[in-house]
Amino acid sequence: MNAFEWYNPTKLVFGADKVGQLGELIEPYGKRILLVYGGGSIKKTGLYDDVMFQLREIGATVHELSGVEPNPRLSTVNRGIDICRTEDIEFILAVGGGSVLDASKAIAAGAVYNGDVWDFTIRKAVIQDALPLGTVLTLAATGSEMNGNAVITNWETKQKRGLGSKLVYPRFSILDPKLTYTVPRDQTVNGIVDIMSHVFEQYFTLTTDIPLQERLAESVLLTVIENGEKALEDGTDYDARANLLLAGTYALNGTLPNGVTTDWATHGIEHEVSAVYDIAHGAGLAILFPNWMKYVYKERVSKFVQYAVRIWQIDPAGKSDDEIALAGIEATRAYFTRIGAPATLGEVGIGDEHLERMAEEATRFGPIGSFKLLSQDDVLSILKASL
Ligand code: NZQ
Ligand code: ZN
Repeated sequence: MNAFEWYNPTKLVFGADKVGQLGELIEPYGKRILLVYGGGSIKKTGLYDDVMFQLREIGATVHELSGVEPNPRLSTVNRGIDICRTEDIEFILAVGGGSVLDASKAIAAGAVYNGDVWDFTIRKAVIQDALPLGTVLTLAATGSEMNGNAVITNWETKQKRGLGSKLVYPRFSILDPKLTYTVPRDQTVNGIVDIMSHVFEQYFTLTTDIPLQERLAESVLLTVIENGEKALEDGTDYDARANLLLAGTYALNGTLPNGVTTDWATHGIEHEVSAVYDIAHGAGLAILFPNWMKYVYKERVSKFVQYAVRIWQIDPAGKSDDEIALAGIEATRAYFTRIGAPATLGEVGIGDEHLERMAEEATRFGPIGSFKLLSQDDVLSILKASL
C-alpha cells in the first residue's frame, strides 16, 4: 500500500427535505450570495422557490448566474467572476448537477485571482485563495459535491480542462435523494456510468495487497449496478435514488484512492471527445471504458479476473484467466447497453475526423494512465476501437 494523507473538509447533509437547513448552513459566511444554476430544471421542479425562501429568511442579497451549460463553459464562468467582483459576493451557492458545481468552483477561485481563471487549468498558476461555496446537488454522477475538482470547457479552442484545489471543496453539500426524482432517464444512465467509471479509474491499479480499498470499490460498484437499474425502473424509488446518490459521492470523495496508484486515462480521453463534440461525459465513458479494458487487461489479468468474478459473478470453472477477464469486460458492456448507454462513437454521431487531434491533446503532458502507460498511439488505438 502506498503512503497517503487524506483530508476532506466538506460537510455532507443527506436526506429528504434537507434544503430546509440551507439558511443556517450559509449564514456564517455572509449575506451577499451568488446563486448559480443551470438551464432551468430547478425552476420546473420548484427547488428554486425553496432555495429562495431559505435565502430570504436569512435576509440575503441574492445575485443569480443562470444557464450554466452541461460541460460548463469558460465564458459562463467569466460571467460569474464578473458578478462576484462587481457585487462583492461573499458566498457562492451552486444548485444543480456537476456542471453547475464545477462552474461554481471555477468562479470561486477566479473571483479572487488577478488573472485569467483558465491559467489554473493549464498549470500556469496555482489556486491560492477562493470564495467559500456550498452546493445543493440534484444529480448523482460526478462526486463534485465532495471533492476539490472542476472541469470547464473553452468552447473557442475546443479544450476541456480540469482545475483542482483543497480551497474549492464545498463547505457543505446538501444531498436530498428526492431532488433527483426528476432526473431524466438518459441523465440517470450517464450518472450511473460516470460513477462506475470513477471506481474503475481507482480499482484497476497495479498496487497490490489493498483488500480494504478493493472491497470498498467493489461495494460501490455493486451498489450502483443494483440501484441504478432500480432507479431506472422507478425514478421515484427513494432508496434506489438515495443509494445511487451516496455511491456517487463515495466514488469520488477521496475514499477509494487512499494508498492506491490510480489511472484516470479513460477520463482524460473522454474529456477530449466531449471537448470537441459536446457529448455527455457519461455517454463518452460508456463508449470508451470497455475498449480501454480490452486494451490494457493483460497488464494484470488477475485483477480483471477478480473483477469478473466478484462483480459480474462470472463462473471461472473450465475457463482460462483470459476468458474470465474478457467475460467480465463483456458483462460491463452488456450492462451499459441494457441500461441504454451508447456503445460506439458512431452512435453519438462521431466519425474518425478528429481522432488524431484528440489523442494528441490527451497526451499533451506525456503518456497517461498507470495500469498501462498509454502513448499517443495507444490512445488513438482505443479511440479507433470505439468508432
Ligand atoms: O441545466 P439544468 O436545467 O439544471 O439540467 C441539467 C442538465 O441538462 C439536468 N438536471 C440536473 N439535475 C436535474 C436535471 N434535470 C431534471 N431534474 C434534476 N434533478 O441534467 C443535465 C446534465 O447536468 P450536468 O450537471 O451537466 O451533469 P453531470 O452531473 O453529469 O455533470 C457533468 C459535468 O461534470 C464533469 C463532466 O466532465 C461534465 O462537464 N465532471 C466533473 C467531475 C468533478 N468535478 O469531480 C468529475 C467527472 O469525472 C466529470 O468529468
Ligand atoms: Zn467522470
